[in-house]
Amino acid sequence: MMERVCDACQGPIPDGARFCPECGTRLVGASPVRSRFMSVLFVDLAGSTALTEAIGDEAMFALLARFQDLCRSVVAEEGGYVAKFMGDGMLAYFGFPGAMKNSAASAAAAALAIVERSARLGPDDNTPMLVSAGVATGWVVVGDAHAGPAARETLAIGGTVNMAARLLATTDPGSVAVGDDVCRKLDPAVFARDFLGLRQFKGFAHPVAAWAISRAHHPPSLPDFVGRAAALARLDAVWADVKAGNVRTVELLAPGGYGKTTLAHHFLTGAANDHEVLELRGQSHRREQSLACLKPLVAALAGLDPAAPAEDQRRCLSDFADGPVADGLALLLGLDPTPVAPLIRQDRIRRALMGLLQSTIGPGRMVLFVEDAHWIDPETRALLAALPGALAGQAVLLIATRRPEGEALWPDAATVIDLVAMPDDEAGAMLAALDPAGQLAPATREGIFARANGVPLYLEHIARAMLERPPSPGAR
Ligand SMILES: Nc1ncnc2c1ncn2[C@@H]1O[C@H](COP(=O)(O)OP(=O)(O)OP(=O)(O)O)[C@@H](O)[C@H]1O
Ligand SMILES: [Mg+2]
Repeated sequence: MMERVCDACQGPIPDGARFCPECGTRLVGASPVRSRFMSVLFVDLAGSTALTEAIGDEAMFALLARFQDLCRSVVAEEGGYVAKFMGDGMLAYFGFPGAMKNSAASAAAAALAIVERSARLGPDDNTPMLVSAGVATGWVVVGDAHAGPAARETLAIGGTVNMAARLLATTDPGSVAVGDDVCRKLDPAVFARDFLGLRQFKGFAHPVAAWAISRAHHPPSLPDFVGRAAALARLDAVWADVKAGNVRTVELLAPGGYGKTTLAHHFLTGAANDHEVLELRGQSHRREQSLACLKPLVAALAGLDPAAPAEDQRRCLSDFADGPVADGLALLLGLDPTPVAPLIRQDRIRRALMGLLQSTIGPGRMVLFVEDAHWIDPETRALLAALPGALAGQAVLLIATRRPEGEALWPDAATVIDLVAMPDDEAGAMLAALDPAGQLAPATREGIFARANGVPLYLEHIARAMLERPPSPGAR
């Protein structure tokens, strides 16, 4: 019987395993059919028949291989799952097999990255590869299409999958189409959108509002910050203590959407400047991947281009850090193929990271911001727990945002700031900032207040949905 291998790293999988022992990816086993809320991405290479005629079968074969590699790596970067390739097309799921915080945003980001990066894969500058994409989000029924591991394929069925395919078919080559539901989940500071019109798709009872998305070109602007005076006063007091030469730890604690990240950014923009802040991010799809959240930080600090050849990246690491640190970081980033026993490997990586953090935080950088600490893996948590001791006597702020379901990062030492739902006056101020022209009728505003219950995220989403309702049929 064929040995089962991990879809992500191709490493061998022991029987009964739920996670890959090599890379930590959650495995899709022969499980019963189930219903999942997720996002679906279809991409397709436009005009592939004409391109094959122009460049020949062999060149096309090589081009498609590069295209598939690109898709695979972009989908993995965004935490998605490649369900299948169909020649010059791909189907991927986001929010599967593990749930994701905003699968629509990840799928949209992957779609744009694939469209942009594949344009550069073309055989020459005059022949760009034009890829189109469709993204939809919603409930999907998923299950393994084949019982045997050899032909394993995860099948997804439902309106959401059809919607992504129809959106793909409706869009122009080189662009990405999404429906209303996806559009509402995208931060306008990150994604620009153009209304394509109401489309009556085959198999759908109602017309669908379709949008073409692209990257927003203005820098992401923070919304007008509202309220949170007591929390800000506590943060200011901690900051004064840091500036007096102490290491302090703070956790902003609240359920999703209460404004932890917004508060942290608002405070840090005022207190520290960009150069002084180092950021580490927990991600739901990486919460079981040991030390994975540190990779982007290491790459950013060392100025690595993850798409560059391994030897170039190694050279860059050696220029950046001394021998053992550079070697440990190379192991972490998968740039050193020499086989090393797992425990020794972990130890080298851990020491290198500790050395890196100690030499980067403190001298010159005053803040380590740990975003979404509830998704930080246990190994990284252990490193972070040791940091206050290692940095003692230095002017350093370690600040984290955390949902209550996660464990405290610094259980004994941290100042914990609990964020509660916004009181009515703050919620009113937020709504006024979201609707500066006063388009929303008083009754609609009351309805938004009642439904949002003081949770800023809900206030924002419901208000935007009301304000951005597409024009009714005939209005165009
Ligand atoms: N004080 C505030 N003033 C204005 N807008 C706010 C404020 N707090 C939150 N918001 C808005 O509410 C939304 C949700 O806030 P934020 O992302 O900070 O929540 P969070 O607690 O970090 O959630 P999660 O746990 O999901 O990361 C943001 O898009 C932000 O624009
Ligand atoms: Mg947040």
